[in-house]
Amino acid sequence: MSEAILAHPRFISLEGGEGAGKSTAIATLREALLRRGHEVVLTREPGGTPLAERIRDLILDTRDSLRGEGEPEPLAAEAELLLVFAARAQHVRRVIRPALQRGAFVVSDRFTDSSYAYQGDGRGLDPAWIADLERRAVGLRPGLTLLLDLDVREGRARASGRDLWPDRIESEQDDFFERVRAGFRRRAAAEPQRFRLVDASRAPAEVGQAVAAALDAWLEAQR
Ligand code: TMP
Repeated sequence: MSEAILAHPRFISLEGGEGAGKSTAIATLREALLRRGHEVVLTREPGGTPLAERIRDLILDTRDSLRGEGEPEPLAAEAELLLVFAARAQHVRRVIRPALQRGAFVVSDRFTDSSYAYQGDGRGLDPAWIADLERRAVGLRPGLTLLLDLDVREGRARASGRDLWPDRIESEQDDFFERVRAGFRRRAAAEPQRFRLVDASRAPAEVGQAVAAALDAWLEAQR
């Protein structure tokens, strides 16, 4: 039998496309939680443990395969999905659950919603398979997910100045990222109690204010 999925109130995730300003939003969340006296664990996916970070490199880094001859080896969509879940299974057990159990807040730069959006909507893999992996290998969901929503072209323009070497997913075309964005927005609309949609086209200070306000409202609702 598959396990139930627990939505944990102290587990917060940030989602969004490329260049949406997740790092700044995470810094805002961290400061707001520290100010209230909470322990905060910041983490990211794919990754978050040494082993899961190595899996991240397998998923994203095209340079390793370039050390051999010729083109990087294409990663099959199915292999990509299983690798992100391998990393997540490790991350949940080694970092996220222990932190939640000792009373800390966990803020994760991406979580399972990214798998539904990138591997499901982007790559076209069956969402029922992803849901099954989520139940069996993860069993945990954020209580609060902030979706930083931004026009695909604008996000890519922002991100392109930053990356010297685009990773495997950044090398995808705009139509892939349009499907990812639509997938995130659909998930946000389907789960309004968990998601807060943040318009990331605004100035960073305004986005920060929106993120802080969403956190305040969430914490207030937990009291
Ligand atoms: P980042 O650039 O925000 O650090 O995210 C790493 C990349 O990994 C990003 O392109 C999204 C992708 N990704 C997936 O495709 N599936 C997943 O489950 C996760 C967590 C990330």
